[in-house]
This record gives sequence, structure tokens and C-alpha cells, in this order.
Amino acid sequence: MSNKNNLEALFKPKSIAIIGASRHPGKIGYTLMKNIIEYGYKGKIYPINPKAEEIMGIKAYKSILDVPDEVDMAIIVVPAQYVLQVAEECGKKGVKVLVVITSGFSEVGNDEAEKKLVEIAHKYGMRVLGPNIFGIAYTPAKLNATFGPNEVLEGPIAFISQSGALGIALMGWTVMEEIGVSAIVSMGNMADIDVVDVSKYLSEDPNTKVITIYLEGLKPGSGRRFVEEMKKVTMKKPVIVIKAGRSKRGAMAAASHTGSLAGSDQVYNVAFKQAGIIRALTTEEMFDWARAFASQPIPKGENTIIITNGGGVGVLATDAAEDHGVKLLEPSPELKEKLRKAMPWFGSPKNPVDLTGQASTENYVEALKVAYESDEVDNIVVLYCRTAILDPIELAKAIIEVNNTYRNKCKPMVAGFVGGKDTFEAIRLLNREGVPAYPSAERAVVSLAKMLEYMRYLKKVKKQ
Ligand code: ACO
Repeated sequence: MSNKNNLEALFKPKSIAIIGASRHPGKIGYTLMKNIIEYGYKGKIYPINPKAEEIMGIKAYKSILDVPDEVDMAIIVVPAQYVLQVAEECGKKGVKVLVVITSGFSEVGNDEAEKKLVEIAHKYGMRVLGPNIFGIAYTPAKLNATFGPNEVLEGPIAFISQSGALGIALMGWTVMEEIGVSAIVSMGNMADIDVVDVSKYLSEDPNTKVITIYLEGLKPGSGRRFVEEMKKVTMKKPVIVIKAGRSKRGAMAAASHTGSLAGSDQVYNVAFKQAGIIRALTTEEMFDWARAFASQPIPKGENTIIITNGGGVGVLATDAAEDHGVKLLEPSPELKEKLRKAMPWFGSPKNPVDLTGQASTENYVEALKVAYESDEVDNIVVLYCRTAILDPIELAKAIIEVNNTYRNKCKPMVAGFVGGKDTFEAIRLLNREGVPAYPSAERAVVSLAKMLEYMRYLKKVKKQ
């Protein structure tokens, strides 16, 4: 069974057959084909449907065996009872990878058919994604082979989901939150290709900077492989996992959902820790942290400085820093002296550095420059509370400029902007321009804390 090449066909297929492409709007086989076309896929598309001459203006074939050219990927969207026969034909055709959307396999106890599907695939050297999935999107190849939203923003975050409906929902959510993704992969029953295979591929993908995974559970007996292989992945890229089914009832729900063993939560905690995986408890956390990893360098050291115009958010950030193991720098007298020049006389150069409610954009810029240029500072948290004298958009633009100017210093910066509607706009602008920004001081600090956790893991394993 060839491996890498076939996964290449999963992310960058040169040609796609859609077996069960439908002429009827509302059907999955219709939406999927429409998404592929409308998202701008540049390779060849072959709809397969015994009843149609053409679909969406593209010539249809009665069987994949009738297609005159090579087919890299076959997406199967026919009812379960036809899947094995169709898979056999794909094998004969020389297809490299099957993307099996169809439900009705091991998730409902139809283990035999699922086993047979993989047997047929492997007999012909094909790999199988699914069954029971919503598809795959890989934005650098302009591929949206899903029946989720058509709009997917390009960016460096990969998202792998073991849940279909949640995966689709989060696809829409990433668009609303302006989170750019490289890949969205629905795993379903993981009959063949599993989370480890996809993570390994993405760890080598230059378009992916961070991998996020919604995981319900691993197959029995695959725990050791998961830890060993994911260790290699996290050496290359940060991986953030939400492991659902933490509670007893949640674990039971996961078992009947994707047929996976949720297992003892403690066991997963240990496995994630050993593999250097960062565990999030909510989807909000997962994407918060992914944003930071996607746009900022991995920290080099522990010393963090907080720069704020509000004492209150500064205190909240300090509490969050202590709770999450973020070490606040004790600035030297020299550093304090430099910072003092960036604030009104009644400000405070201690950490958190309080530029006061009278702070101007110039004060922030000056303080940030001092922080970037100081050898004492490794990481920066910049906070802002909405005041009528400082326009958040203007401040955001200035922060983006400073961040870009000092990219070569490799000091991660996160921002917490607290306030009303225009503050929200400023957060969007910051995120769009590569400064991870959040609507609270705590979320900014925790995102930095996770980067520090990853830095410590890398330092530890590189020493071994
Ligand atoms: N080869 C090629 N085409 C065929 C074949 C065949 N052997 N047999 C049927 N077709 C055509 C049909 O004619 C039809 O096209 P038409 O609408 O133009 O006539 C098309 O393929 C689809 O076949 P239908 O019998 O209409 O099947 P339907 O679309 O109702 O269902 C499906 C197929 C979607 C695969 C269904 O069986 C299924 O599994 N649904 C669940 C999918 C799912 O939810 N997956 C998990 C996603 S994750 C989540 O939870 C969201």
C-alpha cells in the first residue's frame, strides 16, 4: 500500500470523480459537486451517474470505468449498498484515494461492510477517507470537496474533525470569525486513514502552521502508535486537540456517535502530554490558541511584559498569568527608566506597565518599541480598554506596524482589547494583520500561556 503519494492525492488531486453526483439540488451529491466547482478547483471533474448525460454543464459517465482519463480521487456519494461495487470499479480504474461520504457502516454496527471496503481499497493500493464524512477541503489547491459551506477562508490553520456535523458547523464559524484555514478534514469512522496519517501529512505541509483536532476517541489498540507518531508531528508543528467525551455520559455519547472508545480521560491527558499535544476544553479555546500559533513566533523565553492603559485589565491579566504559568518580568531600573518616557508622569513602569487612561497611540508605540528592543523581554501582552481619547482602530494600526517592524526579534505578542463595537472592529483588524487579538485580557494571556507550554515541551525534548 503506497502511503505518502496517495495522501498527496487526497489534498492535491489532479482529477476528481464524483460517484453519485446528483442532478437534484438539495441532495448531498449535488451540493458537493457544486462546492468543488464554485470554490475554484482547477483539475478535471468527472460526474458519475448512470441516469445523467451531464451535470452542471459537465459531461457525466455511467461508470468510473468509462472515464477516458486517469482519476486521482473518487468521492463516493451513493447509498451504502452500492459502495463496495463502486469501490471495486475505482480500484480497477486505478484511483488513488476514495473519499467515502456515505453513512451506514461501523457507526451503525455494519462492521463487515466497512472491513470489506478497506480490503477492496488495499487490494488495489487505494486509501480510504471515511466512511461517514462530510468531505475534505484544502484551500491552497482551491479544493472544497465537502457539503459544508462553500466559503472557506485561506490561512495557516488545519482543522481535523472526527465529528461531521460539528465540523461543518465550525467550517461556517471559521468564516464568521475570519479564521483562515489550510485544510478541513472530516475523519468519520477512520476505517483506513486516521488522525495520525492526516496530522503527519500536514506536519510536512508548508501551508499549515498549526493543526487543530476535534477528537472523540482512538480505535482500541492504537494508543501507542498515536503517541509515538504525534510526538514526531509536534516536533514540527503545534497540535491543539479537543478531546470530547470527558464525562461518563459524554464518553457513552461518543461511542454511539463514531464508534470510538472514549476511554479514561486521564489516559488521554497523559498521552497528550507525552506527545506534546496541547489540550483545549472548548472550541473557542482551540481557535484562540491556534490564532496565536498561526501568526506569532514560538517564544524563546519566559519573561513577559504587560502593557496596558487600564489598571483593572492589567490586574486581571496578572491573575491570569499567575494561574496559567506565565512569568511576569521584573523590569530592571534601566528598563523602567526607558518605559517611564512612554507614559504620563503618573503612570507606572512596573509590570503590568500602566500607560494610564490618558495614554496616546504614541505612548503605546514607544512602550512597545522599548519592550521589543529590550533583552529582558521575551513576550508581550498589549491591552487596551476603550477610552474616548484613544481610537481603537488607530491604535490597532499602530500596533500592527510595530509588530511588523520587529518580526525579526521573534518575540510573540498577543493583544486584549476590551470595549464596545469599534473595539471589536479593531480586534478583527489586528487578527487579519497577524496580531492575535481577543476581547478580554484573560484570553490573550491564556493564548500566550499555551505558546509557552509548547516552547517548554520543545526545549525539554530537544535536550533529551
Ligand atoms: N453510481 C453512480 N451514481 C449512482 C449510483 C451508482 N451506482 N447509484 C445511484 N446513483 C445516483 C443517483 O441516481 C442519484 O443521482 P440523481 O439524484 O441525479 O438521480 C445520486 O447518485 C444519489 O443517489 P440517491 O439514491 O439519490 O442517494 P441519496 O442522495 O439520497 O443518498 C447518500 C446518498 C448521501 C450517500 C446517503 O446514502 C448517505 O449516506 N447520507 C448520509 C451522508 C452523511 O451524513 N455522511 C456523514 C457526514 S457528517 C455529518 O454528520 C454531517
